[in-house]
Amino acid sequence: MGLGHGHGGAAVKHRALKLVRRLRHVNGSARIADIPMGSSFRLAVIGGDGIGPEVTRAALRVLDAAERRFGFSTVREELGWSSARYVESTSRITPEDIDGLRAFDVILFGAIGDPRAARGVVERDVILGMRRRLDLYVNLRPVVAYDDRLVPLKGKRAADIDLVVVRENTEDVYGQTGWVTGRGKDEVAGVPMRFTRPGIERVVRYAFELARTRPERHLTLVDKANAIPVQELWRRIFDEIGEEFGDVTRDAMYVDAACMWLVLRPEQFDTIVTTNLFGDIITDLGAAICGGLGVAASGNINPGNVSMFEPVHGSAPKYAGKGVASPVGSIGAVALMLEYLGQSDASRAIEDAVRDGLRGGRIKGVEAGSQKTDEVANIIAMAVAG
Ligand SMILES: NC(=O)c1ccc[n+]([C@@H]2O[C@H](COP(=O)([O-])OP(=O)(O)OC[C@H]3O[C@@H](n4cnc5c(N)ncnc54)[C@H](O)[C@@H]3O)[C@@H](O)[C@H]2O)c1
Repeated sequence: MGLGHGHGGAAVKHRALKLVRRLRHVNGSARIADIPMGSSFRLAVIGGDGIGPEVTRAALRVLDAAERRFGFSTVREELGWSSARYVESTSRITPEDIDGLRAFDVILFGAIGDPRAARGVVERDVILGMRRRLDLYVNLRPVVAYDDRLVPLKGKRAADIDLVVVRENTEDVYGQTGWVTGRGKDEVAGVPMRFTRPGIERVVRYAFELARTRPERHLTLVDKANAIPVQELWRRIFDEIGEEFGDVTRDAMYVDAACMWLVLRPEQFDTIVTTNLFGDIITDLGAAICGGLGVAASGNINPGNVSMFEPVHGSAPKYAGKGVASPVGSIGAVALMLEYLGQSDASRAIEDAVRDGLRGGRIKGVEAGSQKTDEVANIIAMAVAG
């Protein structure tokens, strides 16, 4: 069947999230580690805009099947947060709204973004709001190709693409609003590229711990320390912490070179740690080399606390309501979420169902229109049901 557990997507996510569970212990919260059968979890569901609600519904259908088979349950609450609601009522999501999410164990998020709304306003309120206010400092993004036919790179196969990007998720140019001053030719816009030592240390340490669990035990720092001298701080901290991990080899690469090598030789990467901005960009490239945005999932994690899981893609407004978006990214987010909740068997069953469906051809593709959203969800849900 090609990618086995030792090298495949399921294994990558599985390995990554084993680490999450261990970190939860380290932080003194064993609440979610080693959860027995029959557990119940509080789940906030934010479908959002565009294709967000459709792919989230599809993913919940797969979650239903997993719950029935593996004997756990979720108590779900749907939150109607969306740009569409903002357009209709101008009501914004506030920091207090975000604080309300602390009542949940996990959040399943679809996508936010409506072309009728001012650009990025609600996206920042909700997505950046959650990441910052809930301090979701790890953005875990597996880059895993499920099947050879999804890989657009000449001469490369699915087995060549098996890496995890750990993106810092709370600092950098996304940390503040910035400013615009002056008028006409004097107009100036700026925002600080701000990093803190504790902010870098915690995510770099997480990445080393993760790299330690992977077969290659190799961590690459991706930065632009040559042209952006403040990023020297990343290099220093990377080397300092790297000294504690004698069993993990390490190297550093400029982001422009990393983009080139992701296309030309993706097999050289194992685990990557990078800044918020660069992580945002290179993981879209990562999704592209695995078949497109329809396939990629991510976890926004604060080990030991409420964490959020989402597909990497946005609201894709042109496909909204047509039932043609791929739910694979959102279903992958459910798999990541279940691994985080200690439901490893259920998580693996979902990953296997996705991979087998794509390999066997029952799932025709991950690009919009290749198949109905619901049909893909049914195929995966039935396979998970066993
Ligand atoms: N996390 C988020 O909620 C998030 C992320 C990115 C963009 N956005 C917002 O989404 C809106 C649209 O942004 P965009 O067009 O740049 O990015 P997008 O990810 O929504 O869509 C870009 C393209 O990717 C493909 N694609 C995306 N999701 C797919 C899926 N499930 N199945 C198949 N193909 C898929 C489509 O070809 C689509 O046109 C904007 O308002 C943006 O701010 C939100």
